Amino acid sequence: MPTTEHLRVERLTKRFGEVTAVDSASFDVRRGEVHCLLGENGAGKSTLSECLYGFYRPDSGRLFVDGHPVAFSSPRDAIAHGIGMVHQHFVLVTPLSVIENVVLGTHKSGWSANLTEARQRLAEICDRYGIQTDFNAKIWQLSVGEQQWVEILKALYIGAELLILDEPTAVLTPQESERLFRIIRRMTDDGLSVILISHKLNEVMQSDRVTVLRKGKIVGTVNTEETTKSDLVKMMVGRSVSLKAERRELSAGKPVLEVKDLAVNNDRGLRAVNGLTFQIRANEILGIAGVAGNGQKELFEALVGARKVEQGSVHLNGANVTNLSPKSMIDIGIGYIPDDRYRAGLVGEFDIEENLILGLQERAEFSRHKLLDVKRMAKFAQEAINQFGIVTPSSKARANTLSGGNAQKIILARELWSSKSCLLANQPTRGLDVGVIEYVHKMLLEKRSDGFAVLLASEELDDILALSDRIAVIVKGEFMGIFDAGSVSLADLGLLMAGQKLGTSVALEVE
Ligand SMILES: Nc1ncnc2c1ncn2[C@@H]1O[C@H](COP(=O)(O)OP(=O)(O)O)[C@@H](O)[C@H]1O
Ligand SMILES: [Mg+2]
Repeated sequence: MPTTEHLRVERLTKRFGEVTAVDSASFDVRRGEVHCLLGENGAGKSTLSECLYGFYRPDSGRLFVDGHPVAFSSPRDAIAHGIGMVHQHFVLVTPLSVIENVVLGTHKSGWSANLTEARQRLAEICDRYGIQTDFNAKIWQLSVGEQQWVEILKALYIGAELLILDEPTAVLTPQESERLFRIIRRMTDDGLSVILISHKLNEVMQSDRVTVLRKGKIVGTVNTEETTKSDLVKMMVGRSVSLKAERRELSAGKPVLEVKDLAVNNDRGLRAVNGLTFQIRANEILGIAGVAGNGQKELFEALVGARKVEQGSVHLNGANVTNLSPKSMIDIGIGYIPDDRYRAGLVGEFDIEENLILGLQERAEFSRHKLLDVKRMAKFAQEAINQFGIVTPSSKARANTLSGGNAQKIILARELWSSKSCLLANQPTRGLDVGVIEYVHKMLLEKRSDGFAVLLASEELDDILALSDRIAVIVKGEFMGIFDAGSVSLADLGLLMAGQKLGTSVALEVE
């Protein structure tokens, strides 16, 4: 275990107006270690690291590099002290090539002349850490995962000795993230230090030490070897959270949702869903694993009548519902949790009460003599707020003032309440905190117990594995297969998601 101090942070505070994003944080990073910053959304991880990178100036506090006090007034200062950062949202120039982006990052003028030299240095770096990338590829041609390598290369190229990675694996398949970890280990073996920001416990457990942040404050730093996932969650959330959803064995009932040879186009008129056939029975969750953008959105929209079915059919409880209007779908009791909360699930300008009955205005519960029953609405809203633990000053708060988790809870409350036999959930846990994810899992399982057919698409394989009875893997609008949940591993799913058929051998790109 490394022991030499590389970076030390003392009582660092950063405020944005009223919000204290980082509150008197102290911790240190040792040379050659992988140090995780763990915390829920909004805990202050990005803000803290942007302070270490000179992007934000802390309101107070001190920084030391190798024991010497430093003050950064821009990233350039941080870079001069060997600190590099890969941001949560990349800052690459998409029409330019990999090599051009790397060289641009050095801020030197006349960069076109240095391209040959740059190419050579970059090749050395890639070789040293086992990174593979095509230097001439244009950024727009790369997957998000590949773009991340370019960001990492940029930081290494400018000589970073301490690399800050902000949620690097949010966009990666399990194999890609495994590969990232192998390369991170090569870096630390080589004496580099890495600060890894993450909220994924499996990854955090691969680090040397973990510093946990909650609401801007540091809860503590622990040696990873000496801790457990549930201890970390407790530190992160402030209470115990069950990581494993209670999933009862249930035998599936009658078919509820039957989809045959479904084809759907995307907004550009190209096939996004291509000949999908599946059935979901009562008491059953069908999980769709896949990287977003492989037709999930179009599939769900077609199933709820918001996008035209070009070919094939959809039956609900035996009735043909192909190309019914969204309103008819709501009326017959299909619940839908869309992946894009603000565009598809909520009206930002409406308050919580109004959003909770969106599409349900005409239901007997809420209308009196064709007018909205405002008392009933307020009561329903209050119940939802209590039951789902929605954090808001009042039920009259507008939806666009809520955090992602709270916005998601409103959609959940509405759709769980209004659906009757079928629930469609696309990326229901995206961007949510562990505590809320636990709740979403519980709710989906409850519907399953109640005899619902549930379709769940998620990029988070933890969701899929925790909840599904059967698992389909979607790639480019087609299923790579539908499997019984017990019969596929996490690694299998990762391969399938990358478009690899099981049983074929895979050449590892590293080592
Ligand atoms: N540029 C900013 N202006 C105002 N508030 C901000 C800004 N950046 C972050 N915050 C707030 O600071 C807190 C911490 O955010 P952030 O550092 O992004 O957390 P994390 O990376 O852990 O999700 C949040 O309450 C967030 O809303
Ligand atoms: Mg962040």
